[in-house]
Amino acid sequence: MPGPAATRWRKLVTARLAETEKLHPGRGPLAPAFWDSRAKRFASRMSVATAAGDPFYRRLRKATGRRTTVIDVGSGPGRFTLTLAPHVAAVTAVDSSGAMLDICRRQARAMGLTNVTCVQGRWEEVDVPAADVVFSSYVVTLVADAARFLTKMDACATERAYLYLGAYTADAIMDPLWRHFHGTSRKSGATYLDAADVLRELGIEPEVEVVEVPARARFKTVAAAAKDYRDQLCLADTPEVRKELRGLLADWLIPRDGGLGVPLKTVPAAIISWPAGGRSRTG
Ligand SMILES: C[S@@+](CC[C@H](N)C(=O)[O-])C[C@H]1O[C@@H](n2cnc3c(N)ncnc32)[C@H](O)[C@@H]1O
Repeated sequence: MPGPAATRWRKLVTARLAETEKLHPGRGPLAPAFWDSRAKRFASRMSVATAAGDPFYRRLRKATGRRTTVIDVGSGPGRFTLTLAPHVAAVTAVDSSGAMLDICRRQARAMGLTNVTCVQGRWEEVDVPAADVVFSSYVVTLVADAARFLTKMDACATERAYLYLGAYTADAIMDPLWRHFHGTSRKSGATYLDAADVLRELGIEPEVEVVEVPARARFKTVAAAAKDYRDQLCLADTPEVRKELRGLLADWLIPRDGGLGVPLKTVPAAIISWPAGGRSRTG
């Protein structure tokens, strides 16, 4: 029987996914094609180069060594898998999207890495051997049954488990745009505080650290930004929407690194971690 924190989590995630589904039928993050169709764009934005300067990567490096085995849950194209692999014994990258893992495999080959194994499937369902460190970055807030997802992370880690997720929802930044087009605020999703509550309910005492992550979004042109934001705002692709969005974004985005970026230097994120078996010791 799920407790109040797991129930609240499920409600928040389900309501948000239902909102996306209503506006973008069959094209929300639960549709199998969603991540496949975004794999290339995601890989170019969340590249291996961006991982090296990320506070979560620095934390993972401190927690791992040459003999450490690692699982990256919901690896995407593998920004953390590929950056970490040269410094550890082995990394297993698990992702439900075949297109994301194709990019990860290709890049691993190009980098000459022989210690990366890609496993396609939902984390809750795949069968993978345990590893010293299990981590998951920007995935859990997409999963309605957080208790099952986190319990499996705990069960598959022999040393420590790490979760990485936003500590300041992108909705706060996008709210004026969302309101402009939809007339109301976006349904709020689950936060890192909810994740910590679900862990406590599982008998795990989480360690929570909030860090600042460089704001990465860069666009070559206003039109490229409008394409990206149209998707994030669940808007139809019509000439009117494109024109309106381009006008709004032209006023809002600022010049950055020879392109355009959001007017924020960093955004906060949370690193939540716990010792493996925390559940059996305290639960
Ligand atoms: C926002 S991306 C994060 C990718 C990567 N962890 C990063 O931080 O760059 C979310 C990824 O999680 C994957 N995903 C979503 N739900 C999953 C699940 N239940 N099991 C495995 N992968 C999942 C998606 O296919 C997608 O590649």
